Amino acid sequence: MAVTPSISAAEVMRDAPVIPVIVLHDTKDAVPLARALVAGGIRMLEVTLRTREALECIEIIAKEVPEAVAGAGTIRSAADAQASALAGAKFGVSPGYTRSVGKACHDLGLPLLPGVATGSEIMMAQEDGFTELKFFPAVQAGGLAMLKAWQGPFGEVKFCPTGGVHLGNAPEFLALPNVACVGGSWIVPVEAIAAGDWSRIETLAREACQLAR
Ligand code: 3PG
Repeated sequence: MAVTPSISAAEVMRDAPVIPVIVLHDTKDAVPLARALVAGGIRMLEVTLRTREALECIEIIAKEVPEAVAGAGTIRSAADAQASALAGAKFGVSPGYTRSVGKACHDLGLPLLPGVATGSEIMMAQEDGFTELKFFPAVQAGGLAMLKAWQGPFGEVKFCPTGGVHLGNAPEFLALPNVACVGGSWIVPVEAIAAGDWSRIETLAREACQLAR
């Protein structure tokens, strides 16, 4: 099963300043959440494979919210990549990088933002053809100083720092030349999803879209 490539990893990163890291426990939340994010200006949605409902949520968003681009997050194996593609994910995000995840995504034609936190991981992902990478966990693994240090040896790589990023520190990350966008869960708070507070999520998305790059 191959994904009809409709988007590249670079386009996923360029679309908005923030990629929301979404955790969905209930399939009924998938459509209103996706619509709220789209209304706030965010189309690239990373639905993490951290719940049993995640794949079905991706499938529902892919079918029912065509303005959104549903991707799968927390891809940790080739099987995760295959299941994500089958569910209709248009891109994948992984918390780390392994050759088997990279190969599965290449074979499926699923654009991947591989997670990296060290120079060796960046080199391995680059060797396998990936130049748009997720820096995870960004704040915990060195934050701004790490990204600045990577500008020399890895000047051609664009990063999406994720982990510990929020509205307050996002501008500093987005100001760096090697940062294309950031990722974060702050625009999709679990309590807002549980309460069905879609207008709050739309407001958080709109606010995030105003961040300068
Ligand atoms: C991720 O999986 O990318 C992180 O859990 C997101 O980190 P955050 O919750 O600190 O935004």
